Amino acid sequence: MLKGKHIILGITGSIAAYKAAYLTRLLIKKGAEVQIVITPAGKEFITPVTLSALTGKPVVSEFFTANSGEWHSHVDLGLWADAMIVAPATASTIAKMANGVADNMLITTYLSAKAPVFVAPAMDLDMYKHPSTQANLKKLQSYGNYIIEPASGFLASGLEGKGRMEEPEKIVEYLEQFFSKGALFAGKRVMVTAGPTYEKIDPVRFIGNYSSGKMGYAIAEAFASQGAEVTLISGPVNLSCSSAIERIDVKSAKEMCAVAMSKFETSDIAIMCAAVADYAPKEYSTSKIKRHGEMTVELVPNPDIAATLGAVKKENQILAGFALESDDEESNATLKLQKKNLDFIVLNSLADKGACFGYDTNKITIISKNGEKESYPLKNKKEVAQDIVAYTLKLKK
Ligand code: C5P
Repeated sequence: MLKGKHIILGITGSIAAYKAAYLTRLLIKKGAEVQIVITPAGKEFITPVTLSALTGKPVVSEFFTANSGEWHSHVDLGLWADAMIVAPATASTIAKMANGVADNMLITTYLSAKAPVFVAPAMDLDMYKHPSTQANLKKLQSYGNYIIEPASGFLASGLEGKGRMEEPEKIVEYLEQFFSKGALFAGKRVMVTAGPTYEKIDPVRFIGNYSSGKMGYAIAEAFASQGAEVTLISGPVNLSCSSAIERIDVKSAKEMCAVAMSKFETSDIAIMCAAVADYAPKEYSTSKIKRHGEMTVELVPNPDIAATLGAVKKENQILAGFALESDDEESNATLKLQKKNLDFIVLNSLADKGACFGYDTNKITIISKNGEKESYPLKNKKEVAQDIVAYTLKLKK
């Protein structure tokens, strides 16, 4: 259930910080990708070197890297995460979280996190019982955060009572249960095409387009985080995806079509997000074409992958496409939906600022085969992907 999940582990200044190393290990063993964010006090209890050796990623603690001045974006981290766990969570960090005291990277990340947040308190029994701590924990619950209650037992102070951070195995169990409940697409196979295609002219030249692949990758991640088995058929892009996703790299439209055809047979859902080149050079020159005055490259149409799948689509399959339009947007998108036999089409307009190629944001309208329309405001592509997943859920067969 945790395979491929992006998890932020927030570590604070408690003696239980040593257990965070084991928690990290367990999460990684389950296939999660873990990013540690540690408070300055947390570093007094456990070294970032230990933690980064376990996660394979630098530990984030400061807003800036001292030497280079490089800024660490808590906003990007907050969007990257499928879950944030604060373990151990001290009384001080809990109070800061409850009241938005954003004076360290852990709290700014918490305030930016869109994912569910889990808090595993660790403190002395009297600190835990104090009405202030209890009120702060209630506040966190009222924000929708999940409190992983501490256990009772011997405490570092020598006292005995409630306040010991829950054992790492139990925290992992808690998360697994949480994610199995939220897995809206468990057991479903989803295929996503993404990015541009490159159509070769000669060994050094091609016809391509500006597609970054960000939208398709975000859709693949969004389905995977809902428990779907995702295959991402990707054109040449500069992106990476979580290990839970089967990624198949292709270059040309023909290659993409062949892979998509074979994967579609066993897919429940296919989202065609790639910006496939409509044409490819008729001839491929095996040697580099020399400059020789005017030249013409003759083009032939590529297969329409979405339409090819639409023609063989079975009753129990959902097929969706994208339409990038500059004029008569809705009527053009509707025509495409019909021609390709799609269940719904996601329309983005070139006229919208901040939408489409290269941007991190997008503004979409979804049109269904029944002609129903739903328009969404400009959002981050990750949130747009979640809207598309939620829309697909309504049609799930
Ligand atoms: O016809 P148009 O290219 O505008 O249609 C866009 C939709 O069709 C997108 O979903 C795109 O991924 C898909 N498509 C395709 N194969 C093509 C062209 C477009 O799958 N050759």
